[in-house]
Amino acid sequence: MVFIEASPDDRVCQEEVFGPFVTVVRFSTDQEALAIANSTEYGLGSGLWTQNLARAHKMADAIHAGMCWVNCYKRRRENRSALQTLRPVMNPFVYQSLPTRVVFGWGKLSALAEEIERLGARRALILTTPEQQALGEQVATLLGDRAAGVYPKAVMHVPLEVAQAARVEAARLDADCCVAIGGGSTIGLGKAIAMDSGLPIVAIPTTYAGSEMTSIYGLTENRLKKTGRDPRVLPKTVIYDPQLTLTLPAQISACSGMNAMAHAVEALYAQDANPIIGFMAEESIRSLALALPGVVNDPNDPDARSQALYGAWLAGICLGSVGMALHHKLCHTLGGTFNLPHAQAHAIVLPHAAHYNREAAAGPLQRAARALGGSEAGEVGALLYALNQKLGIPLALADIGLPENGPAEAAQIACASPYYNPRPFEQGPIEALLTRAMKGLAPA
Ligand SMILES: NC(=O)c1ccc[n+]([C@@H]2O[C@H](COP(=O)([O-])OP(=O)(O)OC[C@H]3O[C@@H](n4cnc5c(N)ncnc54)[C@H](O)[C@@H]3O)[C@@H](O)[C@H]2O)c1
Repeated sequence: MVFIEASPDDRVCQEEVFGPFVTVVRFSTDQEALAIANSTEYGLGSGLWTQNLARAHKMADAIHAGMCWVNCYKRRRENRSALQTLRPVMNPFVYQSLPTRVVFGWGKLSALAEEIERLGARRALILTTPEQQALGEQVATLLGDRAAGVYPKAVMHVPLEVAQAARVEAARLDADCCVAIGGGSTIGLGKAIAMDSGLPIVAIPTTYAGSEMTSIYGLTENRLKKTGRDPRVLPKTVIYDPQLTLTLPAQISACSGMNAMAHAVEALYAQDANPIIGFMAEESIRSLALALPGVVNDPNDPDARSQALYGAWLAGICLGSVGMALHHKLCHTLGGTFNLPHAQAHAIVLPHAAHYNREAAAGPLQRAARALGGSEAGEVGALLYALNQKLGIPLALADIGLPENGPAEAAQIACASPYYNPRPFEQGPIEALLTRAMKGLAPA
């Protein structure tokens, strides 16, 4: 007997009735279905039919029953055994690991001299921004006669003149390695020197941008930034010392952390995505989502700072290992054409870019949803937007300098030379996405 539209409170749903009886109860969300399934005391066994194994396994874990079976009917084919039907499809992939030595830990700046020695180097040129010169001097003291000098002239986007002057200085001081201590701008200057001279880089990141784990360089000439990949610019050694991030102000930390988050989210649906990077991306998203509210709440919290830097390390590997997509294209356009600040633009655009890809990259984005505490690909945009709100990040591109005509112009520029993206670049929807981002609205 079938009871259509039964209420979860009906006796037939609540009691152990000797049937055959089937009760049909409607629900609209997974949470609601779980609440219904768990509202009876007789949860001896249960079953789930699904086309989505990951979602079903998550549901099965949350059902209070002695046994729960999962039937993945989508993958059943004639001639396949039942066991084969449960195996996820394994797509072919290529994975190339990058040979950087990583030293991670609170206070690990103290390992710098040993790491330089390990590289066989004796004269380190220490690079910083003008703002972090004092930190550079501290490093020089730490290195003693292994320090060739401090060059505190790194600036955003590595202007060619700055790179050339730094190369001359490295040669003048007879440096045999560079220590780049700071954010992406300082590490970028180290890369510009390495590209030219082949000097090994020891990178000591103090933000979450991720440049230290990539072989991507950027150089700006006549206001045009050119980027490329070159194995010579990949740092030989990276020291992650969370203690050095304590001075990064809460708001900059939040945006920088969301910049890292963007690398991990886009790695999940990259054209050359692969299982190893998938694991790292999911772990990175989880770590950053957990840590960043703690960092903003108390910038001196060592646990939150360590967890955030760990997430940023993984995000850096993602960025260095697979190609990026719509989100990065839009941010490069916003940075290049409208000079918007790098990390803030990333933080604001990410929820909208993820939402744009919610159907075309449903599987990969479901992993992001899981790491953010949700379950469906369609939730990722809203979850990231809510995280931005929680972190107190400005939500409108207009507030960080995007002019009224920005969305139309940026959409047109991005579509003229698109990156790979799971959903093709569509100028109208991209302009609409940027318009919402400009106004600070939630993705829709
Ligand atoms: N090549 C790559 O793979 C790659 C990856 C990510 C970013 N980037 C580039 O990096 C640049 C952005 O880097 P960023 O976001 O790290 O910013 P940044 O390096 O420009 O740093 C911003 C400011 O914060 C200061 N700062 C950094 N760490 C600090 C700390 N712990 N305490 C106090 N102040 C601190 C810096 O001195 C600087 O004044 C962009 O040019 C971007 O294109 C390159």
